Amino acid sequence: MSITEQNLTDIVVSTLNSDDPRLNQVMESLIRHLHDFIREVEPSDEEWMTGIQYLTEVGQMCNDVRQEYILLSDTLGVTVLKDSLNNKKPEGATEVSVLGPFYREGAEVMPLGASISRGENDGQPCVVRGRVTAPDGTPIAGAVMDAWQAASTGFYEQQDENQPEMNLRGRFKTDENGYYHFKTVKPKNYPIPGDGPVGKMLDAVGRHNYRPAHIHFIVSAEGHEPVITQFFDATDEYVTSDAVFGVKESLLVDFQEVTDPAQAAELNLPVGGWLVEFNFGLNPE
Ligand code: BEZ
Ligand code: FE
Repeated sequence: MSITEQNLTDIVVSTLNSDDPRLNQVMESLIRHLHDFIREVEPSDEEWMTGIQYLTEVGQMCNDVRQEYILLSDTLGVTVLKDSLNNKKPEGATEVSVLGPFYREGAEVMPLGASISRGENDGQPCVVRGRVTAPDGTPIAGAVMDAWQAASTGFYEQQDENQPEMNLRGRFKTDENGYYHFKTVKPKNYPIPGDGPVGKMLDAVGRHNYRPAHIHFIVSAEGHEPVITQFFDATDEYVTSDAVFGVKESLLVDFQEVTDPAQAAELNLPVGGWLVEFNFGLNPE
């Protein structure tokens, strides 16, 4: 049978012959969508080569500490879509958000109330507090909150030689009633890495590379599904245009300035420090 533009897709699909049915399914879908893309776009030879060159550069940018393909997935909304499909949560369970490239395992387990800020210029002091419960409101004691964030300079510690090792990272365990509190600094918005092909793509299509101010968390507890998430400053100028589409309504928080000296003393903050509250819901396994 001769190959034509019309029968080509089915012919390519018919060659799939793996013993793994999932692999055949994924490859068939990939081939059909790629062919449809080419039929719709009708790229010239030059455009096609530009695309190949672009993907080559994305690969060449990747190393032990830089994953440009994940950044590409993040900035095209693919990561968030995949995470949403994989993490359908009941009412009362905290929604997920992107992990991002700056998580590090092994943050120190600290006593409740301790500060994760060890740098000199991390930012304005801020207390974070709240509770971890099951979706029905039952408190979860001993839940582990792994928290990390960028300094107000916009850099995570591994991007910045001026910050101490493991700065702005810490793990805390909720108390017997599920409560937690710790000190940090008020986060600021910052740009995701823009010095590679992803930055070039964002520029080319007229997009910025900023994320609204946020603090990352992985919250886990025995018998519950862990949640990878973040909360976001609701007043941030980029809250409606996050470069990686991670913001959800349920993850918006208000940072309150603490102006009352008595409350500041109680929170172990200077007057003019900040307080933010966020409760997490963990879905039973
Ligand atoms: C972050 O929030 O750390 C992040 C998330 C996705 C891509 C780049 C950075
Ligand atoms: Fe981040």
